Amino acid sequence: MIDIIEELCQKIENTILGDKETLEKFRHDFIGKKGFIPTLFESFKALPVSEKKIIGPALQSLKNEAEAKIKNATKLIETYVASSTTHKEDTTLPSFGPEVGSLHPLRIIQNKVISIFERIGFNLVDGPEIVGDWHNFGALNFAENHPAREMQDTFFIQRNPDKLLRTHTTSVQISTCESQVPPVRAISMGRVFRNEAISARSHCFFHQIDGMYIHTHVTFNDLKETIYYFIYEMFGKETKVRFRASYFPFTEPSAEVDISCKLCAGIGCTVCKHSGWVEILGAGMIDPNVLMNCKIDIDKYNGFAFGMGIERIAMLCYRIDDLRLFSENHIAFLRQFTACL
Ligand code: DAH
Repeated sequence: MIDIIEELCQKIENTILGDKETLEKFRHDFIGKKGFIPTLFESFKALPVSEKKIIGPALQSLKNEAEAKIKNATKLIETYVASSTTHKEDTTLPSFGPEVGSLHPLRIIQNKVISIFERIGFNLVDGPEIVGDWHNFGALNFAENHPAREMQDTFFIQRNPDKLLRTHTTSVQISTCESQVPPVRAISMGRVFRNEAISARSHCFFHQIDGMYIHTHVTFNDLKETIYYFIYEMFGKETKVRFRASYFPFTEPSAEVDISCKLCAGIGCTVCKHSGWVEILGAGMIDPNVLMNCKIDIDKYNGFAFGMGIERIAMLCYRIDDLRLFSENHIAFLRQFTACL
């Protein structure tokens, strides 16, 4: 009998009473009316006294062990059931919505500008950020000794054959003219690079949008109408616009375009340097040399072009006063644009 007691003892130790059903079965098997332990007590009665002295205490401790195990398990299961009913999830509560990200402010402005120009038939074209001197300067009529070609302004990657980081998206005008035949109505946008110290007002990379229109009999008035349309759509019909004569190697005549300052409504503030005007783009009639460099027949075709900085427009639209914010990726800064999709 001592072997059976030891075997049962082992069984008690090894059984895990994790739920009510297993607990009840255990109780039934071990201490139920016809369970192992009562049956052993029955057989115990018939034993000779000498054996009873040895088996008695072992049998009693087996019973104690079984009862203690049942008591502990009952307590544990009861507390678990009680806590799971009190802390039950409230399934009627509204769920947490998915965390909404935001478009980058420069992307928002880019999308807006693209959609404005697409409405009047401009196609979006793309060009590489690494270009040769020809696409960035030569074909755009920059003189051989033009200061922009110097190391101080341009990031050269390689001298021979020349590879550099484009300093303006105007380079895309050349690659587009190489692959398309007029009439061309295209805008391009992307990152440009200049060797400048990083501060609130200048950066070594920023973004530009460049556009061009090549057709027969294009006039300066076509350019003006296009620019007026863009400015009214982008900044509102109440915006004042002024064209100032300027110079770019790739346009003749050239102009810079100012709009009345959005921040102070033209009264004067630090952004417009108290002039009431802010410059937003450069433009002009494409210089015939540029068209010839792209093998376009200048007796038949002419065109206009324009270019602007995206950061400048975003700064005006969102009252941002530090260029560095656009590339530092502070979550608190970016979150402000969640609603501007
Ligand atoms: N590329 C000029 C710049 O980076 C901007 C520009 C001016 C582009 C006149 C043009 C243009 O296409 O016609 O400052």
